Amino acid sequence: MGKKRHSSVLVTGGAGFIGSAFVRLLAEQGVPVAVLDKLTYSGDLKRLEGTGGRFRFYKTDICNKRAAGAVFASERPDTVVHFAAESHVDRSIKDAAPFIETNIKGTQVLLDVSRKYSVNRFVFISSDEVYGEIADGKFKEDFPLKPNSPYAASKAAADLLVQAYIRTNKFPAIIVRPSNTYGPWQYPEKLIPLAILRILGKEKVPVYGKGKNIREWLYIDDCVRGIAEIMDKGRLGQIYNLGGSCESRNIDTVKLLLRLLGEKADRFKFVKDRPGHDIRYSLNSGKAAKELGWRPKVKLAEGLKSTVAWSLGHRDWLKSKLADVNKLYGK
Ligand SMILES: NC(=O)c1ccc[n+]([C@@H]2O[C@H](COP(=O)([O-])OP(=O)(O)OC[C@H]3O[C@@H](n4cnc5c(N)ncnc54)[C@H](O)[C@@H]3O)[C@@H](O)[C@H]2O)c1
Repeated sequence: MGKKRHSSVLVTGGAGFIGSAFVRLLAEQGVPVAVLDKLTYSGDLKRLEGTGGRFRFYKTDICNKRAAGAVFASERPDTVVHFAAESHVDRSIKDAAPFIETNIKGTQVLLDVSRKYSVNRFVFISSDEVYGEIADGKFKEDFPLKPNSPYAASKAAADLLVQAYIRTNKFPAIIVRPSNTYGPWQYPEKLIPLAILRILGKEKVPVYGKGKNIREWLYIDDCVRGIAEIMDKGRLGQIYNLGGSCESRNIDTVKLLLRLLGEKADRFKFVKDRPGHDIRYSLNSGKAAKELGWRPKVKLAEGLKSTVAWSLGHRDWLKSKLADVNKLYGK
């Protein structure tokens, strides 16, 4: 994978949850890789310790055109994979400003800098949330974008901007829309690691509303393998859904975690629902399957088991985020 076609890959947001897993995968394959990351609250270089330092790192804000340009001038990447983002829906409801700045303006800056330095492939990591919610059926890539949260709206704006550059400037980009991703190293503000953090702290797990919202879960290894396939073999100008094919109601996901951690099934509490909470996401990933042979391999129960095992071995890392997570949720 990758080795032949990519003389160098620049990964934005490579110190984040998904970006770091992608960097670890490229480093394993011997692909030359550089990471550009601002190291916000959610960025952490500990996630990259497993690479044995096989990457170059730039602590840079994607919104700063001059600083980002300097990274491109020294790296001259032929491929850019753009993960950097503000990524948490609850934070976007409290304050949308950093989402507009990083997710929209930051993407525009990267597009312009990538054009200036004649990047051959620009892979933009969008989200399933750009489609909005769907009660029945599955979203296909050509469905309209109807985002609901400020986070999803900022991702949809960036997604449309990439489409505009593809069309207007013949810019060589590909858009990836993964479903809800989970696994080792996820920041414990998101449902699965938050539930694990609370269970380890002997607290009840908070569940929004009545826990009936359905998410399509994608294990991190399947997610980054899919992105790598798209980077290598995806067609320029195209959009690819990457869904985990594991739909689960939030309450059932939490109960599975309680069972895996040896706790009683009633150790959760319903809390006031998230405003505008999307009821269900579900992707049709047939295009990635047909064109690239990509299919998710990890079932939810298996992925959660691995995530729990990893969490038990990384309690200190999870707990190091506790004060920030408590502040976010007003504890
Ligand atoms: N986690 C999911 O379930 C999921 C699902 C679909 C799509 N996505 C998308 O995948 C991407 C990665 O998500 P994640 O869960 O790894 O997020 P994350 O919050 O774990 O990581 C985001 C990274 O971006 C960096 N960053 C933030 N603002 C920056 C800026 N202005 N300049 C440079 N770096 C900056 C952070 O320091 C961090 O390292 C995002 O674009 C997200 O929208 C995530």
